[in-house]
Amino acid sequence: MKVAVLGFGTVGVGVYEMLGKANGLEQGPVLVRPGKKDAPFKVTSIEEIVNDPTVGAVAEVMGGVEPAYSYAAAALQAGKHFVTSNKALVAAKGPELDAIAREKGVAFLFSAACGGGVPFLHNLALARESDSIRSLGGILNGTTNYMLDAMQRLHLDYGDVLKDAQRLGYAEADPTADVSGLDALRKIMLACAVAYGVLPTDGLLHEGIESVTAADVAHFQSRGYTCRLIASGGKSDDGVYAYVEPVLLRDGAAECSVLQNFNMARYEGACAGSIVLIGQGAGRWPTASAVLRDLSGILRGEREMFPAALRRGEVDNSAARHSYYVRLPAELAGELPAASAELDGDVCRMITEPMAVSQMHFAAAELRGRGAEVFFAAVRE
Ligand code: HSE
Repeated sequence: MKVAVLGFGTVGVGVYEMLGKANGLEQGPVLVRPGKKDAPFKVTSIEEIVNDPTVGAVAEVMGGVEPAYSYAAAALQAGKHFVTSNKALVAAKGPELDAIAREKGVAFLFSAACGGGVPFLHNLALARESDSIRSLGGILNGTTNYMLDAMQRLHLDYGDVLKDAQRLGYAEADPTADVSGLDALRKIMLACAVAYGVLPTDGLLHEGIESVTAADVAHFQSRGYTCRLIASGGKSDDGVYAYVEPVLLRDGAAECSVLQNFNMARYEGACAGSIVLIGQGAGRWPTASAVLRDLSGILRGEREMFPAALRRGEVDNSAARHSYYVRLPAELAGELPAASAELDGDVCRMITEPMAVSQMHFAAAELRGRGAEVFFAAVRE
């Protein structure tokens, strides 16, 4: 099967090279931006791919919702299988693309959009058929895991570790999505959609690591905690819950041994119990390997990842409650229900009483709206 590739950045180069060696797959044309055509295999217009009868599948690794969505829809309408690593695209337009693919009888697979090289969505798609998935989530962003790990073990500053993550090809073109938790949120949205047939929309909560400092890391490290950015999702009474936030884990928890750009994806099956998958969650080769895994799956007859009855649905995070570690200006300490607090000059570091996740996220937003610098992380003992 000849595979066209949309995009020739970090992942696109990896996909193209892997296609040259893969069983049953063949390198096709590569779509690049006008002005970037410096080799005969590169093309600059999507029509050259969509109208090419020798192209059997299209692998999209450009990122962003547009023009990726228009290109994906055109490829599917033309009867080509479509594989993508683009979580922004699938989170925004997954149901539409799934519908076109089913109508045309072609594949729409996006394993690389969640977990990099870790086959999380594949396993969820298998597990949902035979088991009831109670909860899912874990460390789903390689960039922030790399950054938090380097800040803790190598005592580096936030700005330096972000630059390293970009240089190593882990971060998105605009790393805001990584450090704000949005990238991990999109991934937990996809995981919920695959596991439960509900693509969560309104009511999602995400907090990233933008406000963490070297002093925060030193403080919670000295108290035996390690910080990881964790995505949480699962079944709620009427639908699903889904949120992303930093979590402080007691040293020795499984997540603390997940280093560098690795992800740790987990789900809890009613019968299977806890299943954990660990592997590189970002970077050229891990992500390209997931794209190739989907393409090889097409050769074996795989066609869809979403269940047939996929719908968009509201999130219900109301049952989720945690104690939080919060660093905020000392004069605002009275605004949160502290179980214990330490003053350090004009800064207060507290552990709160258990609070609803939404209460903590909204309180931080409100305090920041008043100009306060706030870092918070759920505490898991
Ligand atoms: N920027 C993403 C990450 C790439 O760091 O996890 C893989 O999805």
